[in-house]
Amino acid sequence: MVEIKNQIYWVGYVDWSVRDFHGYKTESGSTYNSYLVKDNDIALIDTVKAPYVAELIKNVSEITDVSKVRYVVCNHAEPDHSGGLVEIMKVMPQAELICNSKCRDALSRHYNVEGWKFRIVSDGESVSLGRRSLTFIDTPMAHWPESMFTYVKEEKLLFSMDAFGQHYASAGRFDDQQDMAKVMTEARKYYANIIMPYGRNVARVLEKAAAIDIEIIAPSHGVIWRKDLAAIIGAYKDWVVCRPLKKVLIIYDTMWGSTEKLARAIAEGSASTGAEVRVLSVRANHITDVATEAIDCAVMAIGSATLNMTLMPEMASALTYLKGLRPVNKTAAVFGSYGWGKGACKDILIYLADMKCAVIGDPLEVQYVPDKEKLAEAYALGVKIGRKALEIGSK
Ligand code: FEO
Repeated sequence: MVEIKNQIYWVGYVDWSVRDFHGYKTESGSTYNSYLVKDNDIALIDTVKAPYVAELIKNVSEITDVSKVRYVVCNHAEPDHSGGLVEIMKVMPQAELICNSKCRDALSRHYNVEGWKFRIVSDGESVSLGRRSLTFIDTPMAHWPESMFTYVKEEKLLFSMDAFGQHYASAGRFDDQQDMAKVMTEARKYYANIIMPYGRNVARVLEKAAAIDIEIIAPSHGVIWRKDLAAIIGAYKDWVVCRPLKKVLIIYDTMWGSTEKLARAIAEGSASTGAEVRVLSVRANHITDVATEAIDCAVMAIGSATLNMTLMPEMASALTYLKGLRPVNKTAAVFGSYGWGKGACKDILIYLADMKCAVIGDPLEVQYVPDKEKLAEAYALGVKIGRKALEIGSK
């Protein structure tokens, strides 16, 4: 339990050991942030993952008798925040559960909500707690349809649900107690892997947030922003449009090393232009990291050996994941090797068409092993995409 401002407390759970969040590799753990606003009336803002609800109840009990909690607010129905509700509504049967109508529907499909006292609120509606009030701001599809912010205007404090969050476990609760480079790395990874498909909706959320006075952003994961709000809001403005840097991202899988040779020659060519170059083998790097590097690259070069007339399976996995995350503003090039039958490059192009990527030229395809000439072609392709990254990338 930590007081974050004038009888407003963090009462959540620090999950130091989680390493997999529905497929997202969470190397730095996470937190499930719940908050308690103590006023004439007391409100609990969000819960935690179901297995950690006892910790939440213990934290609340250190501040007040649980029978005195008048409201439980559910900003988001995803189980990492709503899972604790089942137990919370048992130990706080007096509490009204405040959420929007879409959230009530989602909760009803996840849990047995019989006996829960729902209080449905609309966008912009406020509930007074006495000296302070809670105002509810709908933020649909940032992350789920029912996603909502809760704003305490008297404290200029925004409970922002998943937005501005990070999968980052720490002993201190605030941004100014952390290594900011690490926090921003995790915030970028979180955006790329969770929020990226909803960039347009999040851009609208940023507009809504700009219209209110905010001194503290308290998300549902990771640290609370009280010092460097400009850093995270500025970063979100870039991320919602996947603003490209002067950066080439080369993603590849290889069977007997031929596609890897092409990838290395492309990287050398790109680097010779002065563009930043990142090379990721999809078998040596997790899809979480592939997505994180994709968010701000200008050009992606994607290569795979052909295996059984199609992509290598790890490349298919990475591209399926990327397609779902829908990075925008990307240009791409395709390369790969094959033996007696092609297939990989053609299939990569299908993914790129789905992602609405502009593709530079025809795929660079090599039978069996690239000779000097083919490696020179790969280098030349690298130069071409490096120059393209310099042309369209910022910074
Ligand atoms: Fe942290 Fe969309 O849940």
